Amino acid sequence: MRIDIVTIFPSFFDVLDLSLLGRARGAGILDVRAHDLRDFAHDRHRTVDDTPYGGGAGMVMKPEPWGEALDDVLSSGDDPLLIVPSPAGEPFTQAIARELSAETHIAFACGRYEGIDQRVIDEYSSRGRVRLLSLGDYVLNGGEVAVMAMIEAIGRLIPGVVGNPESLVEESHEDGLLEYPSYTKPASWRDREVPAVLLSGNHGAIAEWRRARQIERTAAVRPDLLPPDDSRP
Ligand code: ADE
Repeated sequence: MRIDIVTIFPSFFDVLDLSLLGRARGAGILDVRAHDLRDFAHDRHRTVDDTPYGGGAGMVMKPEPWGEALDDVLSSGDDPLLIVPSPAGEPFTQAIARELSAETHIAFACGRYEGIDQRVIDEYSSRGRVRLLSLGDYVLNGGEVAVMAMIEAIGRLIPGVVGNPESLVEESHEDGLLEYPSYTKPASWRDREVPAVLLSGNHGAIAEWRRARQIERTAAVRPDLLPPDDSRP
C-alpha cells in the first residue's frame, strides 16, 4: 500500500520507521511518504493560512498550497483515496480500518488551525474519492495525531505486517465486543492467581470463560456495543 501524508510537520511521521510498521516499510509492504505542505507555498514566508471569510477566531488553511500538493500526490495513483482527518468527520472504527486496509493508495491531508478551506474538499470530492474521518469526539490541534493512529490501525491489518495473523482475530472490536483479559507466566504473582480455567487445558471451557468476560467487560464500559439481547453464539 502506498500512503502519502501532506502536513506542515513531515518529521512528525519519522516514528513510522519504528516497530512493526517500520519493518513493513523495509519489506516493501508499506510505502509511506510525508510531504511538507510549505513546499507548495511560493511566497517568501511560505504561507499556508489566512484569516477566515465571515470573521471568527483562528486561521484557515489556504486552498492554493493544498491544491498543488494534492494534485501532485494524487496524480501518480490509481484511484487513490483522500482522507481528511477532522472532528467533523464520520467516526473512524475498526470496521473502517479493515475496509481501508484493502486500498492500494491512500493520501492523508493533515489540517491545522481551524481546518482547510472547504473548496479543497469540494474540489477533490468532485474528482475522486474523499472521506472525512474523526478519531473521536474531542478536538486535537491538527490531523497529525489522528493520521498516525489511523495508519497504525490500517497498516497492521495489511497481510504480512503482523507476523501471526491469528493475533488479529481475537482483539477488541473485531467481533464487536471488547477483548477478554490475558495472562502469562508466572501462574501466581503477588498472591494473584491466573484464573484456574486457563490452566485446565479444557479448550471449550476456556472459550466459554473468555466469551463471558468479553460480554461482562463490554456491558460494564461499552453497553452501546452490545446487541439488544446478547443472542450471539
Ligand atoms: N483534527 C482535530 N481533531 C480531530 C479529531 N478528533 N479527529 C480527526 N482529526 C482531528
